[in-house]
Amino acid sequence: MSTIRIAIDGPSGAGKSTLARSIAEKLGYLYVDTGAIYRTLGYHIYAKGLNPKDGTAVSAELPGLRVEMSHGRDGLQRMLLNGQDVTERIRLPEVSMYASAVSAHPSVRTYLLEMQRALARTHNVIMDGRDIGTVVLPDAEVKVFLTASPETRAHRRMLELEDRGTPEPYEKVLADIQKRDWDDSHRAVAPLRQAEDAVVLDTTALNFRESEEALLRIIRERTAKS
Ligand code: DC
Repeated sequence: MSTIRIAIDGPSGAGKSTLARSIAEKLGYLYVDTGAIYRTLGYHIYAKGLNPKDGTAVSAELPGLRVEMSHGRDGLQRMLLNGQDVTERIRLPEVSMYASAVSAHPSVRTYLLEMQRALARTHNVIMDGRDIGTVVLPDAEVKVFLTASPETRAHRRMLELEDRGTPEPYEKVLADIQKRDWDDSHRAVAPLRQAEDAVVLDTTALNFRESEEALLRIIRERTAKS
């Protein structure tokens, strides 16, 4: 039986994970947050005090690491690092930059690629990230490039951080988002870019419910054709 694969790519703070999680629940699909995988590795490098930009040092860590993802009965994704649950810790704001920096190394992307593809072979998935439609699942039935203005994304991220009890000022959140946008879209391997056959959804002027409706409409149209 072949599975249905929905790929959602876009810059940080575009609302990918909130929307993808909600839609996965509605459709009964498995939601895979691939950023969490890079964050797990970023967290390891951060906790060890290594330089995430040092490709040799980062690559040397990979053979001794076990990065695993599990989905509980509630459908929520948990990340394990060498058997230890790091799901909450990988959300620390300082881990974001580490995740972005480690994700630029080709060895890291190769190391994590198969894990992502394997999930899509055995489940209907809605997977979000930066290179899902271009590299991980180039044959996905549905590809969406989700975006919004940097200011809107910074505002949403600021509210999210407040909710988590780790507030940060708007100017810092905006500067971090702009730096990450630049880094993620200018790296040599699997940069953030829109797949040619992706539908662009700009949520700058849309609230959550409107974004969700628009996304569901795209998914219905695309899956009806495939
Ligand atoms: O989606 P996120 O903010 O949790 O992702 C953290 C970082 O991981 C992001 O800055 C870039 C990297 N990433 C990636 O390179 N490829 C993916 N498919 C997902 C995330």
